[in-house]
Amino acid sequence: MITVVANLKGGSGKSTIAFNLGIWLLTKGETVIAYDLDPQKTLTDVSLVRKDEGINPELHVKNINGSNISEELRSNFCHVLVDVGASNMDAMKAAISVADRIIIPVPPSQPDVWATQRFLMIIHEVCGERVPDLIAFINRADTHHAIRESDEAEEALKMLDRVDILPGRLCQRTDYRRSLSEGLSVFELSNKSKGSEEFKLFADTLFPNLIN
Ligand SMILES: Nc1ncnc2c1ncn2[C@@H]1O[C@H](COP(=O)(O)OP(=O)(O)O)[C@@H](O)[C@H]1O
Ligand SMILES: [Mg+2]
Repeated sequence: MITVVANLKGGSGKSTIAFNLGIWLLTKGETVIAYDLDPQKTLTDVSLVRKDEGINPELHVKNINGSNISEELRSNFCHVLVDVGASNMDAMKAAISVADRIIIPVPPSQPDVWATQRFLMIIHEVCGERVPDLIAFINRADTHHAIRESDEAEEALKMLDRVDILPGRLCQRTDYRRSLSEGLSVFELSNKSKGSEEFKLFADTLFPNLIN
């Protein structure tokens, strides 16, 4: 299955989600290959830190460019995770065109909701009638209940056509930044933290057949 993690705006958490999902799948004993199609190369960098630190399992991240991206992504028979960024729109479109599903992290802000609406227009332009499963969720949600932005952003996402909204949000947790700089997933940094529990629930929802 080809899972693309994408949205137009930087900082929405694409690489963080792709990395954590990759490690989560590996710890479930699954075979994973990750592709880093974003010139920022965050997924590549964090995986290199992990390798240098000797942390297992290792996440294999491939860097490719050029005209054969779609064929390369299609040529795998395992979990394929793709991290894309808007600074390489050709690569983003190539990945979208072969995606089985697109996971769309959306921070709770109006510009991020607008960017998501524009991103959906691109998906429909690229895919025509063959639209992959589209799964959006609030990432970096505020942990304080009195702050309404996350609810408002989620309401806006619910208005979008053909997009499933995950009920479980990922909150803004410092553990994500800390874990990333150490080459660790958020659940390896601290298996019982709130961030870890949230992420595992999130991954279970995305891969229900892997729940043991
Ligand atoms: N839920 C979260 N809570 C706290 N920090 C987060 C969260 N998601 C992402 N981040 C942090 O935000 C920054 C940008 O995330 P990144 O995954 O690089 O975004 P993108 O790939 O969309 O540009 C990183 O420092 C990352 O650790
Ligand atoms: Mg990134």
